[in-house]
Amino acid sequence: MLKLRNVATNFGNSVIIRGVSLEIKKGDFVSLLGSNGAGKTTLFRTIAGILKPCQGTVEFKGRQTNRMSADKIVKLGLSLCPEGRHLFPQLSVHKNLMMGAYIRRRDHKGIKRSIGQVQELFPILKERKEQMAGTLSGGEQQMLAIARALMSDPELLLLDEPSIGLAPLIVKNIADKVKAINEMGTTIFLSEQNANMALKITGRGYVLESGSIIMEGPSNQLITDDVVRKAYLGA
Ligand SMILES: Nc1ncnc2c1ncn2[C@@H]1O[C@H](COP(=O)(O)OP(=O)(O)OP(=O)(O)O)[C@@H](O)[C@H]1O
Ligand SMILES: [Mg+2]
Repeated sequence: MLKLRNVATNFGNSVIIRGVSLEIKKGDFVSLLGSNGAGKTTLFRTIAGILKPCQGTVEFKGRQTNRMSADKIVKLGLSLCPEGRHLFPQLSVHKNLMMGAYIRRRDHKGIKRSIGQVQELFPILKERKEQMAGTLSGGEQQMLAIARALMSDPELLLLDEPSIGLAPLIVKNIADKVKAINEMGTTIFLSEQNANMALKITGRGYVLESGSIIMEGPSNQLITDDVVRKAYLGA
């Protein structure tokens, strides 16, 4: 579904992503671990076409996308749920969801079906559909951000640090929902500093450090690896 070959991304003179190669297959649930500033968000923005790599190729569903516009990539079936949520705080929950369906705005039936699906997944969004997004709790806002990302009916969902700033109980709830989204058929690439949470729910993981992949493997092996435990699990 997704293949990166030797991808590099710069900001001016600084190289942020350094020759990253990785592969995600249809149905996979994969984590991207890394500490502050490792380059997780930059890598996701590169995959989503918001940033253009200065080297290497990105392939999504067999098509080279590294020069494609971000909205074309969304149309192909890739959706990014950004770090920090980036909701429209003055708009209602419902209107925020509709923003996520922008690329299929004439597909009224499909949109209705997706609204039903995300409301079933996150019942609170149905209860609060007329409430302004900015007045939701942090956990509810994260749920709305994930739901909005699902409104384009993606085949691949990039989730950038959904657990950031949330209490452990809410993190557990969100982790369960994300797992359910994968089980319903959406391929997921999940970026997290919370390695413990990510490795518990994903099948496989990559570790990013200073813009390079330094390790990869099945999550149940990474979780017992000494380097990972020291750096990311506080062991
Ligand atoms: N627009 C930008 N201009 C210049 N440098 C940037 C820009 N965005 C990010 N960087 C730099 O790129 C590096 C990687 O940042 P990035 O946000 O990708 O890391 P991250 O792994 O997502 O970190 P975090 O876990 O804190 O979100 C950092 O050194 C950051 O300062
Ligand atoms: Mg980030």
